[in-house]
Amino acid sequence: MLNVAVVGCGYWGPNFIRNFCSLPECKVKKVCDLDLQRLVHMKKLYSEIETTTNADDVFDDREIDAVAIVTPVRHHYEMAKKCLQAKKHTFIEKPMASSSLECKKLIELSQKKECVLMVGHTFLYSSGVRKVKDIICTGDLGKILYISSRRLNLGLYQADINVLWDLAPHDISIILSILDSPPVSVNCQGKAHIHPLIEDITTMEIDFDNGTFVTIRNSWLDPYKIRDMIFVGAKRMLVYNDLEPIEKIKIFDKRVETPPYYDTFAEFHYSYHYGDVYSPYIQEIEPLKVECQHFLDCIKNNSKPDTDGLNGLRVVQILEAASKSLKKGGGKVKLTNFGKL
Ligand SMILES: NC(=O)c1ccc[n+]([C@@H]2O[C@H](COP(=O)([O-])OP(=O)(O)OC[C@H]3O[C@@H](n4cnc5c(N)ncnc54)[C@H](O)[C@@H]3O)[C@@H](O)[C@H]2O)c1
Repeated sequence: MLNVAVVGCGYWGPNFIRNFCSLPECKVKKVCDLDLQRLVHMKKLYSEIETTTNADDVFDDREIDAVAIVTPVRHHYEMAKKCLQAKKHTFIEKPMASSSLECKKLIELSQKKECVLMVGHTFLYSSGVRKVKDIICTGDLGKILYISSRRLNLGLYQADINVLWDLAPHDISIILSILDSPPVSVNCQGKAHIHPLIEDITTMEIDFDNGTFVTIRNSWLDPYKIRDMIFVGAKRMLVYNDLEPIEKIKIFDKRVETPPYYDTFAEFHYSYHYGDVYSPYIQEIEPLKVECQHFLDCIKNNSKPDTDGLNGLRVVQILEAASKSLKKGGGKVKLTNFGKL
């Protein structure tokens, strides 16, 4: 039986407590939050769990094997460092840390201490995204020409990061897991409307080495909640709408065909192919439950998580390049040493 702890019981942390409590291989021994009210609430829900307002009580507890860090991003690095130094398997919520340098240091430390280091790229554990990945990997859509991803809603405004660092990790992690090619450059523009220093709308473009073009729009200032991704392939097109209760994925047998040869411009005719629309069945399981189980399995089997430190680093490298571009008001920023320690 593994003893786990959760640090951070705000909006997202309680979901970890609930899921770990539901898994028979582990016991939630301790939870931590600076806010005493949150701990009182957790104690009401789970009377057997110890609580503390001091994270060091978690790191110093020799009976705790693994810790999930679910605090705001600015604490991720220092907390994960202490955790790994205490030889505890460590789960960090997305984004992994505030800089790629911090990510690299954590990866090296986890290797030195022989601990599992996992990052909370939750969507990679969702049945919908896994299905999209399967479909694209079989080549059903043909070469992916472009991807358009939108993650828009009203709020939740964060105090320490802009909308790019808050929402884009989801889009980036999904896209990196699907495309079998490294990104080469990032261009990002955005604007701060409510808080003068924190951008609440961003638009990012990523060029991939194989020619795939990606656009990602993130917003905390939109009337509708939108979570959709469009994958345009040379043969077919796929729409993934995470908010659809049943038909989350639709595959459109649509494409544009160009003539094999033509002599003059006047002879050049596109032909538009319109075919069936198909929606595959997806069996829904709570992604966070799958993610928590995977963390425990990796600890038990001493194996590398699907979303390991290197995955976390790659996402942060793109966020950093996007931030550089954003600061200049846009313009391509090259990604150098992508995914390298
Ligand atoms: N994977 C997902 O889908 C998903 C969804 C939401 C949030 N998140 C991530 O989870 C993390 C937390 O987000 P949230 O929305 O729950 O934030 P939140 O602000 O609602 O909660 C954070 C909690 O951490 C506590 N905290 C802050 N500093 C602390 C410290 N030093 N010691 C102990 N507790 C401390 C705060 O009191 C607060 O209760 C972020 O990294 C966020 O990006 C991930």
